[in-house]
Amino acid sequence: MALNADTFSWVAALVRSRSAIQLGPGKEYLVESRLLPLARTHGLAGVDAYVDKVRAAHDTVGERAIVEALTTNETSWFRDNSPFLALRAHLLPELLATRNRPVHLKFWSAACSTGQEPYSLAMTLLDVLPPTVTFDILATDLSEKVLDRARTGKYSQLEINRGLPAPLMVRHFTRSGTEWQVSSDLRARVSFRPHNLLDSPPPGRFDVIFLRNVLIYFDLPTKQQILRRMASVLSPEGSLMLGAAETTIGVDGTWERVPVGAASVYRPVRAGGSAPARVPSQATPATAGAIRPLPAYSSPSALGTRAGAAR
Ligand SMILES: C[S@@+](CC[C@H](N)C(=O)[O-])C[C@H]1O[C@@H](n2cnc3c(N)ncnc32)[C@H](O)[C@@H]1O
Repeated sequence: MALNADTFSWVAALVRSRSAIQLGPGKEYLVESRLLPLARTHGLAGVDAYVDKVRAAHDTVGERAIVEALTTNETSWFRDNSPFLALRAHLLPELLATRNRPVHLKFWSAACSTGQEPYSLAMTLLDVLPPTVTFDILATDLSEKVLDRARTGKYSQLEINRGLPAPLMVRHFTRSGTEWQVSSDLRARVSFRPHNLLDSPPPGRFDVIFLRNVLIYFDLPTKQQILRRMASVLSPEGSLMLGAAETTIGVDGTWERVPVGAASVYRPVRAGGSAPARVPSQATPATAGAIRPLPAYSSPSALGTRAGAAR
């Protein structure tokens, strides 16, 4: 049954005001398919009846459930791979070369979904940073539901198969019934917190911010506002990583795109228009030896290896 036009426009306005996600004309089917399970849970046959009930009761829990149901939480391990390779080969050597000892690095995975992105980051950092370099990873999302899942650190075989190299699965996961459990060491490296990108950013200065595959859901003024906030919490040598289909070009001229290996990183243009900090093409003498070389599974072809192949 087609969704009532009034139901659709109320849901679209709610979702836009709470998350900035745009649900334009043509998204009626998406709204219906995402909200039908909620309606059924409440013993209602259709989405119109469910939305009417939430509206009439000013049910804030129901409103939150509707917004969360309309977020898209698609993610995978080492998604797009090139940002992780850029981090290993270029950005971490650069950060270590510019910092006085002792070095502590701060990372933010904004819109982290079910945790594959920040855990991939933690595995990369544990793999390459010398033990003397400490780090913390803040991982945030609007959706409490995905954060709860991320905190448990439990993934199905299907989820594991999506990009997790077998050696890293063996090192960082144990079997838990039909699922795979992230090690407590890896979990301790990531703090999961709720955060809406429409709000002020978390306090602190971050060396690398992952803001991937979320700006695509927002309109231009929202993207600009979020990018300005990101600039305000990036360290002077810091880098912003966007999704493969995202860019600041044509969105916000205060950012510069810097090609790093096969990846693009973004840096605020300095006052006076000076070039951003140099990104070394390889480890400099100052950092040589500090960063461990790439292991075999870091090559893009080997990253295609499925976890199941290890058994
Ligand atoms: C497609 S996932 C991207 C996950 C991960 N960054 C990646 O690239 O694999 C988009 C995430 O953005 C979150 N999201 C959407 N709107 C948001 C907002 N306004 N504030 C914070 N997170 C938001 C969703 O809940 C969802 O988990």
